[in-house]
Amino acid sequence: MEASEREAAILDVLRRAAPCAVSGEELAEALRVSRVAVGKRIGVLRERGYVIEAQAGQGYRLLETPDAPLPAEVSPLLASDCWRLTGGGTTGSTNDDAKALARAGTSHGTVILASEQTGGRGRLGREWASPAGGVYLSAVLRPRLSPAELGPLPLVAGIAVTRAVSALGYGEARLKWPNDVFCTDGRKLAGILIESAAESDLVSWAVIGIGINVRSAAASDAALAACHLEALTGTSAPVRLPAVAAATLDALDAAYREFASAGFDGALRDEYESRAWLTGEHVTVRDATGVTRVAGRVAGVDETGRLVVQTAEGRTAVAAGEVTLRRTTG
Ligand code: BTN
Repeated sequence: MEASEREAAILDVLRRAAPCAVSGEELAEALRVSRVAVGKRIGVLRERGYVIEAQAGQGYRLLETPDAPLPAEVSPLLASDCWRLTGGGTTGSTNDDAKALARAGTSHGTVILASEQTGGRGRLGREWASPAGGVYLSAVLRPRLSPAELGPLPLVAGIAVTRAVSALGYGEARLKWPNDVFCTDGRKLAGILIESAAESDLVSWAVIGIGINVRSAAASDAALAACHLEALTGTSAPVRLPAVAAATLDALDAAYREFASAGFDGALRDEYESRAWLTGEHVTVRDATGVTRVAGRVAGVDETGRLVVQTAEGRTAVAAGEVTLRRTTG
């Protein structure tokens, strides 16, 4: 048993016994290790933010768990059994970690969690500010699709985030094509960054990176005002980061399965349209150099996840790629 497995096993026993204490001897027997080894793992857990009381003659009692997206806190809350969680502390970028694992052959369903990122990345090479108080995660998928068929994936991930927000009791979030999740007042709540690699026209892996502002509005995108989950009206219960991570992963599993089995054109596309932020509004789509590609009114999204814009010359569809979308006056 590895150290992390021992810690998970200790937590499992303490959680089930809480509010009662468990003796060091019982824990040592359950894990088939020495009492000294148990003491060491308890020390590591305390460093991670677990409040574990030790009382002479009674043993250890779990009083408080950390409010951080640690695998040991998120896993017990998951309904889905497809995810294998790692990480949970500070890292550069969970997308970079996930990509490295994907290239090394990790299987579908590996997830990297982080409570802070020092080099969080957004679309178009932008920085994604990732202070403590947010949920940052990246999931490795191995879709049996061609790269062209991956087009709707950011929209599917966006749907998953809006479903998670609703499941947590925070009402209806909105979707701004292609990869933003907005609060109903038009500020940015979450962002999605999909990266993938293909061989012989088949996707070998895709990484879905999701960053959600939970306790503070991280200035994720200089051009967009940000909001955070706790500022939304809805449930009055304080939201805990492990619950946000688990709800997001459960919703992502469900939405991805729907996409893999039935495709985007149908129920998912309808759901996207029903939550779309700029439908009917006048927008300008610019490329990475700032040159206007299309200007007109948003008519919706097509079956491949492209944005459909009604221009003076007729309807045109824009793929996500390296473009930005801004509301403008018509
Ligand atoms: C965007 O809005 O441009 C996308 C932001 C994506 C941020 C998430 S946080 C988890 C994952 N790791 C990263 O470095 N980026 C994504």
